Amino acid sequence: MTAQLIKGAEVAREIREELKKEIAELKAKHNVVPGLVTVLVGADPASQVYVGAKEKTSQELGIYSERYDLPEKTSQKELIALIDKLNKDPKINGILVQLPLPKHLNEGEVLYAIDPKKDVDGFHPVNVGKLMIGQPDYMPCTPAGIQQLLIHSGTQIEGAEVVVVGRSNIVGKPIANILLQKAPGANATVTICHTRTRDMTFHTRRADILIVAAGKPKYITADMVKEGVVVIDVGVNEIGRTAEGKRILCGDVDFETVKEKAKAITPVPGGVGPMTITMLMMNTVRAAKVAAGLT
Ligand code: GUN
Repeated sequence: MTAQLIKGAEVAREIREELKKEIAELKAKHNVVPGLVTVLVGADPASQVYVGAKEKTSQELGIYSERYDLPEKTSQKELIALIDKLNKDPKINGILVQLPLPKHLNEGEVLYAIDPKKDVDGFHPVNVGKLMIGQPDYMPCTPAGIQQLLIHSGTQIEGAEVVVVGRSNIVGKPIANILLQKAPGANATVTICHTRTRDMTFHTRRADILIVAAGKPKYITADMVKEGVVVIDVGVNEIGRTAEGKRILCGDVDFETVKEKAKAITPVPGGVGPMTITMLMMNTVRAAKVAAGLT
């Protein structure tokens, strides 16, 4: 069996077309323009690529965008002062502080400073807590995108054995919480595995849906999965450069061998990645509608 490809890029394009129409209508009917600000501290090349992509997509969809590129040595006080200013700015509906932050900054305190109503990343403890108790408001973008991919691919989620590899606050923990909910597109039985899991293969081989966000290139091999599994590969690992200097990427799953056993699988690139930005745009539009009293 060769797997169905779950093409995130295509699903993302469809959702963005709808969003573009909705944004045009918001402007025409209500004079509302959603606004997103990105804040990048330091010059990490991967973060620069991600922030650039978020800014470009905002502009393509008609979202007002601002970008702050702050020096590596920015102090905690300066960053919090900027967030306070953006919290009060009525043009801004969504505030995104790109992670990871330089080591001298306190990430938890920075995320806590963002107004939960402008927390389009869904990282503020209030939004994390709301998801945890089954009252989701702003959900983190990568996990929300994964849920959409599973729904779009026609995967049976309710009652499925979902195994998540990775326990980060950005992907592992929130996707587990999302799929655990008593709600449509969820209701799964969820296991979270991590670096201290005793027998990884025991767990991964049980999965009907395997979600991998481990940060290890080609970590999941064919012997670790069962026939007919649906695989979502969140990994983005640079494993070299082409002669022209282009990045060569691979996921956390050994795509070539696992696709022979899987029912469906996301490619890297073109799988989860495009969905993350799309969900960010969706959260920003929602924040603008809530701010304007339109929901
Ligand atoms: N770093 C990696 N993923 C993300 C994300 O979804 N949001 C932010 N702010 N930083 C990230």
